[in-house]
Amino acid sequence: MRVAIIGAGVIGLSTAQSIYEQYHSIATPLIIEVYADYFTPLTTSDGAAGLWQPYLNAKGSLQEMEWNKQTFDYLVNCLRSPECVKMGLFLQSGYNLCTEPMPEPSFKDIVLGFRCLTEREIKMFPGYSHGWFNTALILEGKTYLPWLMDWLRERGVKFYQRKIGSFTELSKNGADVIINCSGVRSGDLQPDPELQPGRGQIIKVEAPWLKHWILTHNTKGVYNSPYIIPGSRFVTVGGLFQLGNWNNHNDSTDHKDIWEKACQLEPSLRHAKIVGDWTGLRPTRIKVRLEREAILCGATAVEVIHNYGHGGFGLTIFRGCAQEVANLFGQILKEKGMGPKAHL
Ligand code: FAD
Ligand code: BEZ
Repeated sequence: MRVAIIGAGVIGLSTAQSIYEQYHSIATPLIIEVYADYFTPLTTSDGAAGLWQPYLNAKGSLQEMEWNKQTFDYLVNCLRSPECVKMGLFLQSGYNLCTEPMPEPSFKDIVLGFRCLTEREIKMFPGYSHGWFNTALILEGKTYLPWLMDWLRERGVKFYQRKIGSFTELSKNGADVIINCSGVRSGDLQPDPELQPGRGQIIKVEAPWLKHWILTHNTKGVYNSPYIIPGSRFVTVGGLFQLGNWNNHNDSTDHKDIWEKACQLEPSLRHAKIVGDWTGLRPTRIKVRLEREAILCGATAVEVIHNYGHGGFGLTIFRGCAQEVANLFGQILKEKGMGPKAHL
């Protein structure tokens, strides 16, 4: 059984991991190959701050919240392992601030210690009238992706740096199953009018005195107002969300706008040293596309499993999605007579 995964961001690599974990001893020999034109540190997943938090006004399905929860629980378990340092994983607490009353978020029972802000806390943030405090997780892509690649490489997974032009190309190359984890550029492989870039730009700064994340929310939509997320070395300062904008270069007007708003929120940032800017395109879709499709490649139909469209929450949902892809892969194995029963 030969599986070709397109994409080496958090979605592609974690999908390879779940497939390996569930089937390496069942579908032997299981050959897993990862194809990508960009690897760490050059993927969108590398630039993200890596805070575990779904959208406040998540329009996705209950299914997506379940995948978010599975990911949170999986990562909390990983905290018990000394590996968590090498994974770039740690607990961190912080504030969600709103300019008007909002219903409590659907993730309130997933995170740790969720509570409403007290009057005294709200007074610390002029301009905001409501909010919550909770402990969540940070999983830094720049550390987690190399860790995942090492994990996979040690288990025989092969990596190929090239741009894939079509599913047929991989099918002709001998792939039995193709997993599409190509993120925001998935439309190049198969048109998808529902997939759009959600352009984001962030500023990385040195400000080791900041220990809590602060996310603000207004009526202008998700991540379009200031946020501050301390990481292991640098603090990530955002945010922007420009739907439909494919520009993946830093913009100086956006920089100034982000910086001024963030300094109003956290005046001590004026003492921070700016170390760089970064722009990334969130693979934005109303709903994650996670489904099987048989695609005709010449005379033969090849099984494709799509796993893309994780917007601004790829590091929040990846493990639940990867496990779901592995379940679909198990169905295909069974249909091909290669499932666990074929070995009894
Ligand atoms: P990517 O990381 O973009 O990987 C896509 C892969 O597909 C790449 O390897 C690419 O080379 C490959 N590829 C695509 N097309 C082809 C092709 N034709 N041939 C070969 N290879 C191909 N999420 C969070 O959960 N928490 C956060 O704090 C957070 N902060 C963010 C901040 C910003 C500013 C941005 C922009 C995003 C943030 N996100 C965050 C969202 C997160 O970064 C994405 O959801 C996630 O990175 C998507 O992962 P992915 O693997 O689908 O895509
Ligand atoms: C973002 O997409 O910019 C983002 C996602 C999760 C937490 C913070 C920021």
